[in-house]
Amino acid sequence: MRKLFNIALGLLCLCAASCAPKDPIEKKVDDLLSKMTLREKIGQMNQLSGGYSSIEAAAKGECGSILNCVDPVEINAVQKAAVEQSRLGIPVIASRDVIHGFHTVFPIPLGQAATFDPELVEKGARIAAIEATSYGIKWTFSPMLDIARDSRWGRVAEGSGEDVYLDATMGAAMVRGYQGADTQDPTSMAACIKHFVGYGAAEGGRDYNGVSIPERSLRNTYLPAFKAGVDAGALTLMTSFNENDGIPSTGNKWLLTDVLRNEWGFDGMVVTDWNSAGEMIAHGFAKDLKHSAELSLNAGVDMDMMSFGFIAHLEELVKEGKVSEKDIDRAVRNILRLKFRMGLFENPYVDEQKAGAMDYAPEHLAAAKQAALESAILLKNDENILPLTNKKTILLCGPLADNPYDQMGTWTFDGQKEHTVTPLAALQKDFNVIYEPVLASTRDLSTANLGKVRAAASRADAVVVVVGEEAIMSGEAHSMSDLRLKGAQSQLIEAARQTGKPVVAVIMAGRELTIGGDLKNCDAMLYCFHPGTMGGEALADLLTGRETPSGKLPMTMLVEAGQAPFYYNHNRGGRPCNGTETLLADIPLQAGQTSLGNTTYYLDSGYGPLFPFGYGLSYTEFEIKNVKLDKNSYGKDETVKISYDIANVGKVKGTEVAQLYVHDVVGSVARPVKELKRFARVTLEPGETKTLTFELPVAELAFYGLDMTCKVESGDFKLWVSNDSASGEPVDFEVR
Ligand code: BGC
Repeated sequence: MRKLFNIALGLLCLCAASCAPKDPIEKKVDDLLSKMTLREKIGQMNQLSGGYSSIEAAAKGECGSILNCVDPVEINAVQKAAVEQSRLGIPVIASRDVIHGFHTVFPIPLGQAATFDPELVEKGARIAAIEATSYGIKWTFSPMLDIARDSRWGRVAEGSGEDVYLDATMGAAMVRGYQGADTQDPTSMAACIKHFVGYGAAEGGRDYNGVSIPERSLRNTYLPAFKAGVDAGALTLMTSFNENDGIPSTGNKWLLTDVLRNEWGFDGMVVTDWNSAGEMIAHGFAKDLKHSAELSLNAGVDMDMMSFGFIAHLEELVKEGKVSEKDIDRAVRNILRLKFRMGLFENPYVDEQKAGAMDYAPEHLAAAKQAALESAILLKNDENILPLTNKKTILLCGPLADNPYDQMGTWTFDGQKEHTVTPLAALQKDFNVIYEPVLASTRDLSTANLGKVRAAASRADAVVVVVGEEAIMSGEAHSMSDLRLKGAQSQLIEAARQTGKPVVAVIMAGRELTIGGDLKNCDAMLYCFHPGTMGGEALADLLTGRETPSGKLPMTMLVEAGQAPFYYNHNRGGRPCNGTETLLADIPLQAGQTSLGNTTYYLDSGYGPLFPFGYGLSYTEFEIKNVKLDKNSYGKDETVKISYDIANVGKVKGTEVAQLYVHDVVGSVARPVKELKRFARVTLEPGETKTLTFELPVAELAFYGLDMTCKVESGDFKLWVSNDSASGEPVDFEVR
């Protein structure tokens, strides 16, 4: 009887499912797919670079997307060929790397991460979409969600740094910003979460290098930001160049099908990175282009970027039975679904007259300035030398003090340097500025002009030195093994020091450099990353004290490049360092060999980093105390409620980022010493105290343990609310 009942129930459910009204987009996708020839389907899976050069392919239905064309007239011309000349009139989707702003350039993503301000990051992405879509660009290859723990890797600039939670939070914010509330809206731009996955762990920090990340680390560290991106509604995803344990991502079926589709239910579109399918030949994973097309399609790739393997070989592969038309249908469904979701069938063309109408709009510049303000990290401020109140004349020097191109940073194809406000341009409104670049570029090794610093400084009340990296020194394929300032920039800071005047060093760079030596030669240091179009104005506000720095390091800052990868959320190990160990200079000559009492540290560069993750000073001081939990024991479905007092105990208004860290003391596998779980930007007047709360569902303490399932394990936990990842006193609690 029970069995019969179950069968009846099953039938009822089946009927309900098939009788349920179909999602209108799915219906349209199916209708269109049923009319397509195999060749037309494969044509959709092909992406081409350029505008007019793609017209012929679009007219034949052999191009699903174009990239790197930003001329609305050209984009419309390709679209016209696709819509009016191809048999089924399927529109193309135009794409571009819009990474940190389109024309209005925001700080590089690593700088945006330093704001710890996801609302502002979302706003920046929205602005980028408004500007880019007005030119017809409907798809950006951003955000980059690669966890990056090695500043030698040039692409650290493009992501949110080393932390899982920060990366996931900022990534989701960008997805929401690009796509907006309604993907059919003309200003919506499809996001592409990339590079799936593990690309940021490139061995030795050398771009494109292989990685060796076991499944548990993938799931606990590298995949969560992508899951957050999927949950935020990202419409597309890009596979990464790297191989993990011998398997290139573009041919990794477990990753692209089992995890992404079957576990996470992603119904967006998967594109390869630039020729990453073809590069599987160089990896030694595919024997030729045809084989790479077979492997990537079968792994779960939908669209090929620039290997041309699909367009050249898929028909043949279907005939040979090596790929099925069913899998091709899957890919085409995902592509058509994207185009319907983006409203391209209804509105294929961009209004050429309105292109650029919002470029550099005042509200865009204001948001870019706000992002530059919040991304600046104050690393040192001896004797409260900053802000430079009561200083009338400053000597401004350094190769980046008036370098409108380089301050925009990597991946700014469309930013126009004519619109950049440099420190020189902005500071002249507030100070008498004596300007001496001294060095022609950040790589200039000549010390010939250093003498000018002394002469000019005699007329100034302070010296501001703007140094760092040119835009081209970070980003794709721009890894470095030495992270010190290049050229004679350190000598320039030293020369400034020798003048006896207060020295403020401003660093603009695509990564966190090893600036320990330079710190000693300045009174104050502001780390600005590449701050974008409005960097100069933001700097002027910070130097004059109209604004107070509030940025926090999104990566652990190293003493020496040789410490990399060095990140705060590492596992403890069996011999954790306690900071009292012997350093190189203290080892007696002919010391006997011993490992007793030895711990995890470097004899030469010491125990810790230069500055911890989450670190950043202000012109005022904050105290966080009275961290209290509502209970000390929680069930797995409960929420930990944490209250804390945060006080501004200094003399000016400021904003602090309160950070909540947790440590799971004993796990079925060892757990990181600390993990960021929440943060909040808190603005306080001098003398003001606020009592605030964080709420952390115990479910968010889950991880992939020994049995490789994701769950919360009972036991003891520690929790901190602090100003950075290295301070604060722990509070204990238990999970039952
Ligand atoms: C990069 C991607 C980028 C693509 C398209 C590749 O070289 O790795 O991040 O989106 O080019 O420009």
